Amino acid sequence: MDMRAAADDFKVCLCKQKTKKELIDLIREKEIRTLDDLREIGDVGNKCGGCGEDLLQLLEIAYE
Ligand code: FES
Repeated sequence: MDMRAAADDFKVCLCKQKTKKELIDLIREKEIRTLDDLREIGDVGNKCGGCGEDLLQLLEIAYE
């Protein structure tokens, strides 16, 4: 899925119920740069792992 086109309240990680906006805010606030750090610091993407590709996109979008 194209995260740039997703709405702010789109649930990127269904397992942890985290939205696009809250994740982008978190990435910027904590200056997270890697998927591993995002998983650990954000407690997201660490259950089924199915949202990994979308989280990688958010890591790019957050710093554009
Ligand atoms: S949807 Fe994110 S870990 Fe399952």
